[in-house]
Amino acid sequence: MNLLVRDLHFAYGPKPVLNGISFTLAAGQVLGVLGPNGSGKSTLLRCLTGALRAQGTIEWDQRPVHTIPRLELAKKVALVPQNPHLPEGFTALEVVLLGRTPHLKLWDSEGPKDLAICHSALERTSTLELAMHRVEQLSGGERQRLALALALAQEPEALLLDEPTAHLDLHHQLATLDSIRTLVQSGLAVLLVMHDLNLATSICDYILLLCQGAVRYQGPPAEVITEAHVREVYGAEVMVVPHPQSGEPVVLSQRSGRHGTRPPGLVAPRRSR
Ligand SMILES: Nc1ncnc2c1ncn2[C@@H]1O[C@H](COP(=O)(O)OP(=O)(O)OP(=O)(O)O)[C@@H](O)[C@H]1O
Ligand SMILES: [Mg+2]
Repeated sequence: MNLLVRDLHFAYGPKPVLNGISFTLAAGQVLGVLGPNGSGKSTLLRCLTGALRAQGTIEWDQRPVHTIPRLELAKKVALVPQNPHLPEGFTALEVVLLGRTPHLKLWDSEGPKDLAICHSALERTSTLELAMHRVEQLSGGERQRLALALALAQEPEALLLDEPTAHLDLHHQLATLDSIRTLVQSGLAVLLVMHDLNLATSICDYILLLCQGAVRYQGPPAEVITEAHVREVYGAEVMVVPHPQSGEPVVLSQRSGRHGTRPPGLVAPRRSR
């Protein structure tokens, strides 16, 4: 599924939050949306699903978002919000089955095909062994993976993910990115909001770096994630070096040790025992 966004503006009351954002997202592409806290990333995602009404153009496959019936959009575009709300009192499997709702006819219940799709969604997110656990008994990271499983059960053509790895341990961060890569290869379009610049550069084909509701820099990771851009947009001093295997930019802290940057040649004082 293709997305076109042109000159998007949005304000909460008098407060402008998005100021003229334009970009495209194509099937089989991973687009990263990065930027400091409060720069408008989550607001942008809510506009893309039509949940917030913005000024400007948002077209999914050449159709303005507000002309697409909600049910049709729900079959094609899935959003995993930053703090997903999962209904309590249900098992993980029951929650994931909710993802099939847009595909069912009124009064229909889920059939074997729906169960197979949910099984696969649970498998892809390493939550299969949690299928019979109640949602309120899951850990933060398990809930986050379940929210992604719920979105995958929708079998969307486009996936909007708001910080999908924020609560995950390293293994599950990498496994989640692997699952996303596999889905993208089969034609899914993915828009990924992330704070971890290194995870973002490892998976994104193209990056938008937002600053105060506007796209400050955009392009392939190596053009966008530079020391100067990170300094300007985040106010952070970092080193950016090429990844030894992929050549993609890797962002490192400037500090040389726990006690801060030392001039070369200066030896750290010995600690008394
Ligand atoms: N419902 C709301 N009403 C009023 N202001 C809001 C609302 N939601 C967000 N804002 C404000 O809009 C701005 C953008 O918020 P948004 O949640 O889009 O930022 P973000 O880039 O996702 O930040 P973060 O990285 O912290 O998740 C912030 O200044 C925030 O305080
Ligand atoms: Mg946010």
